[in-house]
Amino acid sequence: MATRRPIVAANWKMAGSRQLGAELLEKFALLSDSSAEVVICPPAVYLDSLQQQLSEHSDTVAQHRITLGGQNLSHQEFGAYTGEIAGSMLNEFGCRYVIIGHSERRSMYGESSDIVADKFVMAQKMGLTPILCVGESLAAREANRTFEVLNGELNAVLDKVGIMAFDNAVIAYEPIWAIGTGKSATPEQAQEVHAFIRQRLMQLSPYIGEKIRILYGGSVKPSNAADLFTRPDVDGGLVGGASLNASDFVELCRIASESE
Ligand code: 13P
Repeated sequence: MATRRPIVAANWKMAGSRQLGAELLEKFALLSDSSAEVVICPPAVYLDSLQQQLSEHSDTVAQHRITLGGQNLSHQEFGAYTGEIAGSMLNEFGCRYVIIGHSERRSMYGESSDIVADKFVMAQKMGLTPILCVGESLAAREANRTFEVLNGELNAVLDKVGIMAFDNAVIAYEPIWAIGTGKSATPEQAQEVHAFIRQRLMQLSPYIGEKIRILYGGSVKPSNAADLFTRPDVDGGLVGGASLNASDFVELCRIASESE
């Protein structure tokens, strides 16, 4: 089986502060070693100061493979789009990744799967690696429609970009009912869905299916991470609430490193 380096990505959502960035770097400096990749996705207004903080702690950053990511980008390249952020701007502030299609954006800001696919294209055009979020609602799960929903969300992107574009992408499975609820999917539920996603991609390209990293997101915390991250098709986590506590987040990165 291919070795996939785990990723632990922090999605601060509309929270966090400059201070949190400093605390995180202090905690990482105390962590002896880690093999996981760490991606911090703060609100865009903090990217500038975080980039600066990372450059001041270059040893820690290199040791723990810490990079920055955006939480969203415009599907347009530039122009009169008030309030939007272009991929080139994320690039300018050192982002390597960008979260695409988070369920909060799909449900609260009307992002259709088609727009999500356009954002995927734009991210890659700007040299960013998309972290494509997919996941079912509680109603869909209870109606046994989980795989149908996931297929729909995956197909919208696959139809537009083709399987080989996933050579430079990460997928995050985030069941909507587990986000911010404290009620994580069980490791068995997560593994089942991750295996389904991998198989789906494997059918189109064994190379991509084997290689792609699939993160789990939804109430990940230090107490449940080890059991999730050691499942064969779970390659790390996309973390909301627990990423706002520097000790917890660094602990999650340590756990992910040990799960490799
Ligand atoms: P929580 O970890 O707070 O459940 O959020 C998960 C999430 O939405 C990450 O993108």
